[in-house]
Amino acid sequence: MSILLTGGAGYIGSHTLTELINGGYDAVVMDNFSNSSPKALERVEELTGKKIRYYEADISDRNALEKIFSENDIREVINFASLKAVGESVEKPWEYYNNNIGGTLTLLDVMRRHGAKNFVFSSSATVYGDPAVIPITEECPKGTCTNPYGWTKWMLEQILIDMQKADNEWNMVILRYFNPIGAHPSGRIGENPNGRPNNLMPFITQVAVGKLPELGVFGNDYDTPDGTGVRDYLHVVDLARAHVKAIDKLRENPGCFICNLGTGQGYSVMELIKTFEEVNGVKIPYSIKPRRAGDIATCYCSPEKAEKELNWKAQFGIAEMCRDSWNWQKNNPDGY
Ligand code: NAD
Ligand code: UD1
Repeated sequence: MSILLTGGAGYIGSHTLTELINGGYDAVVMDNFSNSSPKALERVEELTGKKIRYYEADISDRNALEKIFSENDIREVINFASLKAVGESVEKPWEYYNNNIGGTLTLLDVMRRHGAKNFVFSSSATVYGDPAVIPITEECPKGTCTNPYGWTKWMLEQILIDMQKADNEWNMVILRYFNPIGAHPSGRIGENPNGRPNNLMPFITQVAVGKLPELGVFGNDYDTPDGTGVRDYLHVVDLARAHVKAIDKLRENPGCFICNLGTGQGYSVMELIKTFEEVNGVKIPYSIKPRRAGDIATCYCSPEKAEKELNWKAQFGIAEMCRDSWNWQKNNPDGY
């Protein structure tokens, strides 16, 4: 019995694969490598001592999916496969809706044809838009997304909820990630953004390694303690372990289960920079820039539901996140 990880060579997928294998679970990967490299899978082999079975294939390729499902005894799927660059999604909405929604619909159809009705979905804090309440609970109002990427997550959540309602053989675990950063402590796998990073931590590490001259801090006039944006950063290994718990959850036949994944602690941009400098002994030159369009002041979650009902709680703190992000970047300045 195998778990299929779509997008399993990506940042979160490769860490989850490692945790699943180390936990004694059997996994198979499919990825079109549009934003990743097979080298990540070689690194996972090195870390786990296990050969990884993988397919270079797209989730919208029905024939490829049929082949994967007929060659493996798959009962559960964790669907990481998605395009995820917010700015690009505004430029290329069709590509985002087609890849993320169209691809996932094809995947779900092949799954049900094969009687594999257990699904874990990578959703995002982005579904809460500008949150009505802080800390954000799962009941917080949703559906005020500001970009097509966010809408794909929100729409897919609704599709999964409706499918499960219509056919209770389905089990859907919807995980709303806050801000994953960090890397495997070995420094062998980590985040490998294409081109100039959009997100804060990969930008910081590329400044630290000398690939970029300085960090722009997007706004210091927010209504936060130091004026810079506050987020719920979460170590990617903790996030990966939450997926192992999600598989256990699926095996309890929960129907539809939705929860936030974060630490419940918010840190500002300046706090992250300072911690990174202190923990790693490197300087991060920065300057204050205008606010980035669409950004919000504060976003952190209530992690209570995950703790009570998923039996998961983040173990790593912000210092370990900074240490491991840097360890990955300095050992792999050009990624894989
Ligand atoms: P990533 O880009 O590193 O991984 C996604 C993987 O999916 C890549 O390996 C890519 O090649 C693959 N892929 C994309 N489209 C595909 C397709 N049509 N068929 C097959 N493979 C395809 O991203 P990540 O950070 O690991 O994110 C994983 C999931 O988590 C995504 O769904 C993302 O939207 C979601 N998410 C990420 C974050 C974050 O901050 N990293 C936050 C919230 C949610
Ligand atoms: C990003 C995504 C969001 C996703 C979330 C969780 C964008 C625009 N949004 O949000 O869809 O759900 O991750 O993974 O990509 N910052 C700087 N300078 C930089 C980069 C960022 O000051 O060069 C600041 C931002 O203004 C923000 C904080 O750092 O206050 C975090 O930014 P980022 O890492 O991009 O994450 P989010 O904006 O939370």
